[in-house]
Amino acid sequence: MVKKIAVLTSGGDAPGMNACIRAVIRAGLQLGLEMYVVYEGYKGLVEGKIEKVDRNFVSDIINRGGTILKSARLREFKEESVRQIAVNQLKKHGIDGLICIGGDGTYLGAKKLTEMGINTVGLPGTIDNDIASTDFSIGFDTCLNTIVECVDKIRDTTASHQRCTFIEVMGNRCGDLALFSGVAEGVEMIITPDHPIPVDEVIETIKRMNKGKKKHTLIIVSEKIFPNIYEFANRVTRETGIETRADVLGHLQRGGSPSAQDRILATRLGVEAVELLTNGETGICCGIVNNKIVHYDIYEALELPRDKHIDLLNIIDLVNK
Ligand code: F6P
Repeated sequence: MVKKIAVLTSGGDAPGMNACIRAVIRAGLQLGLEMYVVYEGYKGLVEGKIEKVDRNFVSDIINRGGTILKSARLREFKEESVRQIAVNQLKKHGIDGLICIGGDGTYLGAKKLTEMGINTVGLPGTIDNDIASTDFSIGFDTCLNTIVECVDKIRDTTASHQRCTFIEVMGNRCGDLALFSGVAEGVEMIITPDHPIPVDEVIETIKRMNKGKKKHTLIIVSEKIFPNIYEFANRVTRETGIETRADVLGHLQRGGSPSAQDRILATRLGVEAVELLTNGETGICCGIVNNKIVHYDIYEALELPRDKHIDLLNIIDLVNK
């Protein structure tokens, strides 16, 4: 049975990671285990940035955004020789279990460590919600609420000036942040990798909308769709005669105090991960499906198709047009 567990955060930070770290440490200590943290994700693991902690280490962090453990991305972790250094670092401390909070890349790293003799569990921590094995990842709900708050403000000025505004949101290659915020805001168009709209159609729709009583248009777009959203907004102004602006929300989307939903999800998942390790499970990842905590083998999880939320896409056509 595992006796010493460490936890790390990897990839882009997400609100709720701290709540998850807290749950892992507290649950582990409560079960009589020795608990450790690793700073700076897999990079810090390779560099030996490991520390033994007590319950006070995680006091007053449940409400804090970001990750107190810092995060990093380490491409070289794909190389077995680099991972071997990480394994040696863990062994030096006698750590036999590792909980890795992050996205798909983090999961893969965890699985590879399992194959090298370390017991691991992956937990979904990313604002992007791009992990197929969970309905929601830690950080998505907070980020969604941040976007909605921003778009509410952008709506005021867009309406006052009777403009068209494109709002570009994060998500990497996943459109969930755009889709969910677009539905929450009732915007005129939502453009995502799963719901692309040809440029000509975008321009024609803006023209048509402007002929109605309502003279302003809000459009939410996933990042990485337009190479330069500002240039595209200028083109729309030229081709429609309607003053058009673009706002890229950027990294403010990743910060802030986690929502109650994210704190609760993070806490449930953190406790589950510790229990799984103490029950002898390894190489798996946890998620929430239909409000139940579930777990999958990491390789299986990485093969699952992502939910494209057809139900929500249908809503846009019925309600927002
Ligand atoms: O994965 C989270 C995320 O915020 C993506 O939405 C975004 O594409 C990327 O990270 C940005 O990464 P960085 O902070 O390294 O620029």
